[in-house]
Amino acid sequence: GKVAVLMGGHSAEREVSLMSGAGVLQALQSQGVDAHAFDPAQRPLADLQREGFDRAFITLHGRFGEDGTVQGALELMGIPYTGPGVLASSVSMDKVMTKRIWQAEGLPTPQWRQVASVQETEAALAALGAPMIVKPAREGSTIGLSKVTEPAQCAEAYALAARHDPEVLCEQFIQGDEVTCPVLGSGAQAQALPVIRIVAPGGNYDYEHKYFSDETRYIVPCDLPAGEEAAIQALVLKAYRTLGCRGWARADVMIDAATRQPYLLEINTSPGMTGHSLVPMSARAVGMSYEALCLHVLAAAAL
Ligand code: DAL
Ligand code: MG
Repeated sequence: GKVAVLMGGHSAEREVSLMSGAGVLQALQSQGVDAHAFDPAQRPLADLQREGFDRAFITLHGRFGEDGTVQGALELMGIPYTGPGVLASSVSMDKVMTKRIWQAEGLPTPQWRQVASVQETEAALAALGAPMIVKPAREGSTIGLSKVTEPAQCAEAYALAARHDPEVLCEQFIQGDEVTCPVLGSGAQAQALPVIRIVAPGGNYDYEHKYFSDETRYIVPCDLPAGEEAAIQALVLKAYRTLGCRGWARADVMIDAATRQPYLLEINTSPGMTGHSLVPMSARAVGMSYEALCLHVLAAAAL
């Protein structure tokens, strides 16, 4: 059948999505799949049905693609799609809702506060301590994110985050190792892939260092102390199941340097598939090529 690779879209991560989509499209075509690029920002999604697509590979990132909206439209059209369903996509896009659910289940995530003004951001800094992260609740790729260490920085940090999303959260910054861990599969079959440790210049794994610089180092197999990788994989698998994810996703985690406690930051339900991206890197460490990964994710497309 005909496969639509959904890419581009209306979010702030459009540029990243176009890179992910180009990679997936080429990989699927190289494996003989009848795959076509489809950008929902350029044409109505209903064209999928009119043009006889029978599956969708979602490489949209951020809102209107990773947040349950496109998933809902595909449900209505009866077109199976890759990755988590409507509810899990929607909850995972929202870092506030994600943290509420993880906390209710006893899963570790950094202390946080939702804020609606500069004053509340300053109060959050006093309560959570410095440094603190200020970020939009529903954004990706570190867009709109700031690290603040003193009250004078709160106004600019809040304004930047609020420009991307009226919902803003402040989060305690965890000093330590930055790691990520993908999960593939659904239900009892879901499995964590190898953990990657990310070492960005100055500890600053921002948009530039995620997609364009060659200075970021990715350590996989990771070099964490014995037992830590398995513990993180188990934690991430729990985090994935708690949110009801299926297909695939990738959780981002910080490990406190002093206590070695891992903290869940968020889960990405349409993880990046660019040339610099993490899920393909982790899959390669267990002998799964980029092409094999794409076929595997596509084979799990569901309604
Ligand atoms: N939000 C980007 C695409 C990622 O997490 O990979
Ligand atoms: Mg993200």
